[in-house]
Amino acid sequence: MKKRSLFELVWLVCIFLVSTNCFAGHGGKPPMKKAILLAAFGTTVPEAEKALDNIDVMARQEFPEVEIRWAYTSKIIRTKMAKQGRVLDSPETALAKLMDEGYTHVAVLPLHTIPGEEFHELYQNAHLYEQMTGGFQQLLVALPLLSSHQDMVSVAKAMMKHVPADRKADEAVLLMGHGTAHHPSDAIYLAMNQVFQEADSNVFVGTVEGYPTVDDILPKLRAKKIKQVYLMPFMAVAGDHARNDMAGEEPDSWKSILEKNGYTCQTVLKGTADYPEVVKVWLDHLRSAYSHF
Ligand code: CO
Repeated sequence: MKKRSLFELVWLVCIFLVSTNCFAGHGGKPPMKKAILLAAFGTTVPEAEKALDNIDVMARQEFPEVEIRWAYTSKIIRTKMAKQGRVLDSPETALAKLMDEGYTHVAVLPLHTIPGEEFHELYQNAHLYEQMTGGFQQLLVALPLLSSHQDMVSVAKAMMKHVPADRKADEAVLLMGHGTAHHPSDAIYLAMNQVFQEADSNVFVGTVEGYPTVDDILPKLRAKKIKQVYLMPFMAVAGDHARNDMAGEEPDSWKSILEKNGYTCQTVLKGTADYPEVVKVWLDHLRSAYSHF
């Protein structure tokens, strides 16, 4: 009789410990610890970095209680910066650090313009950190800037607000997007051109590496008898492409090509992330991912 009650007591204690999660160290879920990872392409141009600082400030205002980290998706940029003594994390390194530090829920915000190659690589690799033993309980990758028609309309409206006030209605605005010949999302630039055209028929979108090119835009400027063109980057930062391929003095820059064709040019050296209304669209995407935790 005595023996049996002792056995029952031990058994009850065991059940109590399991039910109150006293063995959590062995298989139990760790407490929720949330983080945000901002993943930009990156830039080697110090002046262009201000646009990324702008995102940083706005993200911290929006999520004051959350740990916010940065990662850079371009290996070329990371290598160049490392040579200057600045070691920047890849998304993989940044996620591994968060994992080691016991973060359980991570929202990744891709600071890319279109859901192109870079976005898909980031999406794929980031999700692998959810599958590892000891990996995140939940990882969500937010959508890049232009992911719906509403995004395009909001971004176009924001960009139009920042066209220099001196620009007259009969002067054109030509935005330089990056573009890609290797991903179907390149078509977003043409869609974006349409959205701008609906707002103002003298605003055009061209790309450096995709479609349309500056050569596709030239006949349209000619048909509209445009004399002056405002050149604006349509990339997160006004980095190397904006400074050289758009506004540079080399004969193959857009400015040189336009001038050779008889147009006068005004250049704006600000990236889309320099404009708070555009950053807001990115942060809305982050908020909708983060709200699932
Ligand atoms: Co490029």
